[in-house]
Amino acid sequence: MEPHLLGLLLGLLLGGTRVLAGYPIWWSLALGQQYTSLGSQPLLCGSIPGLVPKQLRFCRNYIEIMPSVAEGVKLGIQECQHQFRGRRWNCTTIDDSLAIFGPVLDKATRESAFVHAIASAGVAFAVTRSCAEGTSTICGCDSHHKGPPGEGWKWGGCSEDADFGVLVSREFADARENRPDARSAMNKHNNEAGRTDKYDSASEMVVEKHRESRGWVETLRAKYSLFKPPTERDLVYYENSPNFCEPNPETGSFGTRDRTCNVTSHGIDGCDLLCCGRGHNTRTEKRKEKCHCIFHWCCYVSCQECIRIYDVHTCK
Ligand SMILES: *[C@@H]1O[C@H](CO)[C@@H](O)[C@H](O)[C@H]1NC(C)=O
Ligand SMILES: *[C@@H]1O[C@H](CO)[C@@H](O)[C@H](O)[C@H]1NC(C)=O
Repeated sequence: MEPHLLGLLLGLLLGGTRVLAGYPIWWSLALGQQYTSLGSQPLLCGSIPGLVPKQLRFCRNYIEIMPSVAEGVKLGIQECQHQFRGRRWNCTTIDDSLAIFGPVLDKATRESAFVHAIASAGVAFAVTRSCAEGTSTICGCDSHHKGPPGEGWKWGGCSEDADFGVLVSREFADARENRPDARSAMNKHNNEAGRTDKYDSASEMVVEKHRESRGWVETLRAKYSLFKPPTERDLVYYENSPNFCEPNPETGSFGTRDRTCNVTSHGIDGCDLLCCGRGHNTRTEKRKEKCHCIFHWCCYVSCQECIRIYDVHTCK
């Protein structure tokens, strides 16, 4: 066996038990080669990493919507990067890893909660959209394809199309969250909060263990019972986040050095907080912009190009 293959295999075996056990590594479908070949090459369910048997069955039965599932994760990641662009952890993905967010998601933190919610929301959205566009034969408004797609699936038909995306996301994304542990409970809750897309805050929880007939079961309880308990709208988490100030391969923090900060903001995107008190550097940048635009009757606009100078502040 070639050495790098052996390394990869060992990495998978070790990673599989140590790091990747709780990780939805099928998200890697949204990055890299597999994603770019979607549409041009047939998708092989067996080559998607980390599917549990239920997901594999789903993939084989509904192969047609798998590109939308991948697209949904991709949209979720883009949205996460947009929403977190001014934060210390900004939803960075790692292209050459199956664990596309690195070790950051190993812990049951707010960041993990958010990523699960937004990935599930993305899947529901992308599947619903592809149904509405009529690109898929098992859903959509085309009268030829109305009605249930097959045995055991009461989906399809126009009125239920938004539900269809939600159902796909639920069936597929939650399929691996059936362990009786706190992390599974957390992921399921946050996946669902994302799918209905109405989360507005995140609540810290504590893990409680109960003995039930099926064995020990972990559940979550609000840590601060003085506040109202979280509803299905709230994301939940039960471990503290690292501060993401310095690079740390163990936590998956990249640190904030060289990040662009906002010198006038007092928020988390401001230079004080984003740079963790280390201070910032300032440089000027010239950018070409359109200017002196003239509207010509009728109908076009002509512009000149001007050079504007901006101050750019980056963390030390
Ligand atoms: C996000 O953080 C990474 C690592 O610090 C950095 O390389 C990247 O430029 C940041 N992205 C944005 C949009 O600021
Ligand atoms: C910087 O922060 C200020 C104050 O919050 C805000 O008005 C401004 O739009 C921000 N600038 C950028 C480039 O985000």
